[in-house]
This record gives sequence, C-alpha cells and structure tokens, in this order.
Amino acid sequence: MRLRKKWWAKPEMEKDHKVIFTPSEFKGKWKELFGNDHPIHLELGCGRGRFITEFARMNPEINYIAIDAHNELLVYVLRKANENHLDNLRIVPMYIENVGDIFAPDEIEKIYINFCNPWPSKRHHKRRLTHPNFLRIYQTFLKKGSEVWFKSDDELLFTDSLEYFKDTGFNELYRTFDLKQSDFHGNIQTEYEEKFSNQGIKIKFGRFKNNFLGQTVAMNDEIKTIKAG
Ligand SMILES: C[S@@+](CC[C@H](N)C(=O)[O-])C[C@H]1O[C@@H](n2cnc3c(N)ncnc32)[C@H](O)[C@@H]1O
Repeated sequence: MRLRKKWWAKPEMEKDHKVIFTPSEFKGKWKELFGNDHPIHLELGCGRGRFITEFARMNPEINYIAIDAHNELLVYVLRKANENHLDNLRIVPMYIENVGDIFAPDEIEKIYINFCNPWPSKRHHKRRLTHPNFLRIYQTFLKKGSEVWFKSDDELLFTDSLEYFKDTGFNELYRTFDLKQSDFHGNIQTEYEEKFSNQGIKIKFGRFKNNFLGQTVAMNDEIKTIKAG
C-alpha cells in the first residue's frame, strides 16, 4: 500500500499512552498494562481502525490491541480511540512478522485478520498472514480453544486459508463465501470491506478454533532439548 508520508503522525502518537512503541517490554504483562484481568483480543493489520474501535466501544469488558506497520494509518486509530474515550484499546506500530516476540503463551484470546494482502504469486504465499508459518507463530500465544476470525475479498486466498487452518490444527467453526447473504449476525464492516462490497465483491468469512496446545508443546520441546543436552 502506498501512503503519503505524514510528518505529524509519529509525534502525535508519541504523546499518547495508548500507543506502545516498545511492545516486547510487555510480553506476559499486557494485563498489567491494561490494569485489569479482562480477555485480550488482537487485530492484525488494522488499517485506519474502524473495526477494532467499534468492537472496543461495544465491549468495554474486553481489551483490544491493534497492530499495523504504518503510523500514517494508526494515527487515525488513535484519534478514533480518543474521540470515543476507549481505555480498553492499545495501538502497536510494528510488523506482524515479529508478533511472536511480544506475547507470552495464552496471552491472547482472539485474533482478527481482515482483508490482508492475498499475495497471489505462489512464491509469495509465505507472506500471507494466514500461511501456516504465521498461524504457528499465533499459536505460541493464542489460548487453546480461542478463535481466529478471518475476512477476505479474495476467493483463492480464502480457499487456501481453509486448508492452512486445517493443516495447523484449527477447527473450522464457520465459513461463508457471501457474508452479506449469510446467517452470521453482528458483522462490523471494515474500511476495505465497505470498498469491496460497494464494488459488488462478495465477502468471505471464517471462524477457526485453535486446538493446538502451543505452551505444552513448547515446554515438551524444551524438556526434550534438556534431556538431549
Ligand atoms: C488491505 S489493508 C486492510 C486494512 C483493514 N484491516 C481493513 O479491512 O480495512 C491491510 C493492512 O495491513 C497492514 N499490513 C500488511 N502487512 C503488514 C505487516 N506485515 N505488518 C504490519 N501491518 C501490515 C497494512 O499496513 C494495511 O493497513
């Protein structure tokens, strides 16, 4: 995505406690940061943040973390959060590739991925945010039994992702190739979703439950390493 540089974005964000520029310091301590024991939900690639700010407004008993690489977009998430007095939202400027460095096992109870880049060329599939390499990273901190909710305009990415989730130990709970005509209620439209829907593109949506005991497997691996050593 090409974005016009906004020199004022970072200084505006630096003044606000809702923006976390050193997220790895909070690994295992996000509940302390929020100051309560509420579940934490994460959006990867939040863009301008309509989706996550609306959820945060509707669910004050849940804490939300919004991640994106671009301050030029995140500054608008921050403005929406402040206009709506959202104390249950934190904004993290970072690359999703490093998300495994900032959360401890079981720290996250839901992940939202909305309209990520489909990376259509086969040699780029590894960059898809639903590729097994990414799903395995999410499993290191996603609580067992928690869900990933995934929306896309791209049919190929979506059908491939159904396999990716299955191959990494997620159970498919729900899928639709046409969200508008489906029996799913309570959808919050993202900025990109509105754009695609206005073009007549059907929105694909799935919910996937994590059955992987990331923490236990990691501990077992550690035990194996200790024994082997
Ligand atoms: C197509 S936009 C979708 C934005 C929003 N989710 C929506 O549906 O309106 C994809 C977003 O993901 C972010 N993004 C893509 N790859 C990323 C990465 N590797 N790390 C962090 N952010 C990323 C982009 O900056 C962009 O805001």
